[in-house]
Amino acid sequence: MASAPGAERRHIVVGVGGGIAAYKVCSVIRHFTEAGHDVRVIPTRSALRFVGAATFEALSGNPVTTEVFDNVDEVAHVALGRQADLVVIAPATADLMARAVAGRADDLLTATLLTAHCPVLFVPAMHTEMWEHPATVANVAVLRSRGATVLTPASGRLTGADTGAGRLPEPTEIGLLSDLLLARPDALVRDLAGVRVLISAGGTREALDPVRYLGNHSSGKQGYALARVAAQRGAEVTLVSGAVSQPGEPAAVDVVHIDSARELSEEMTARAPAADVVIMAAAVADFRPVGVAGAKIKKGDAGPAPIELTTNPDILAGLVRARAAGEIPARTIIVGFAAETGDADGGVLDHGRAKLRRKGCDLLVVNAVGEGRAFGTDDNTGWILTAAGTETGVPYGSKTLMASRILDEVAASVPDRQD
Ligand code: C5P
Repeated sequence: MASAPGAERRHIVVGVGGGIAAYKVCSVIRHFTEAGHDVRVIPTRSALRFVGAATFEALSGNPVTTEVFDNVDEVAHVALGRQADLVVIAPATADLMARAVAGRADDLLTATLLTAHCPVLFVPAMHTEMWEHPATVANVAVLRSRGATVLTPASGRLTGADTGAGRLPEPTEIGLLSDLLLARPDALVRDLAGVRVLISAGGTREALDPVRYLGNHSSGKQGYALARVAAQRGAEVTLVSGAVSQPGEPAAVDVVHIDSARELSEEMTARAPAADVVIMAAAVADFRPVGVAGAKIKKGDAGPAPIELTTNPDILAGLVRARAAGEIPARTIIVGFAAETGDADGGVLDHGRAKLRRKGCDLLVVNAVGEGRAFGTDDNTGWILTAAGTETGVPYGSKTLMASRILDEVAASVPDRQD
């Protein structure tokens, strides 16, 4: 398969453990092949009890084997690990992580782990008791201390009637975080452990009547990317989400859904005092209809009635004021976003600088929008401006990569504030 334009063809090993979530990994393999990467799938013996080798071979376009003793002449157990640019282990079962910690090499996957010098991403999936068992907790700590990335799993429905922590993150999320590690191998270090991060994302919907609303094109991708990267860097994340076009919720994130700007304002104002960092990535409607009709507005003979609008609260400015008034701790870091186009009064950056001063937040992420940029796309570019006067350009890249750069600035500010 040809590489996507501009993308580099990389060697990716997908190690599949023996858990029911093995079937979801088929979509992750697809994600990599569609990007033009060379994918080698190495299942464990027990993984093949869930998904057959033929499925993995068809999806990856490469032969699949579990044993060190197959095709010995190719010395696959050494070659695959050495040439890999990324190893993704999903689902990473308790047993597979224990074997990796012990340095076992009794199948092709564990042998490959011993020869890989590239980033290794473990994506655990198991029952909650197994995830929380001290043996697994210790194994995860050892893998992380050796430089591997071990994702925190999602909470939710497990096999059967069980619910709890231990669910495999959505395949799309595994794909996004894998791409992030390919672009930036150290992007998911756990430097935000224990930091409480409150993020708003998506667009608000301002009701006109029970079926209609005024809305905007925000996809929520940048806010969701911030939530997923912050959570995997160890933060305790609450995501207050408006309308989004997102498949699935980020793993290990507490998600609260809202519709209107006023609902968003209530949630953010109530939750901000308990946060160390507040990030306003939502596209908040500046105006809302003065009244909401109780019944669906009829066409009528007189044609459309004008819609009278009133101004919504500026939530970001309100949070900054609340901090100044002592209602939010002084150490809380407040981050705003600005979607700007240049005009006769100045360029994108000029408008961003003026907005940072006007809003009074600590960090302002400035995106250049218009002509298909930023809104709804997977990529983003811009600047991160700080109240201290620093201006960091963020080169064009995925919104996940942008999120990791924004969180670097946040992480750098957090210790200063912990008094
Ligand atoms: O002034 P402007 O809408 O460009 O500012 C954008 C920033 O302000 C974003 O961080 C957005 O989430 C926030 N905002 C807000 N309340 C509004 C409008 C925007 O918090 N009513």
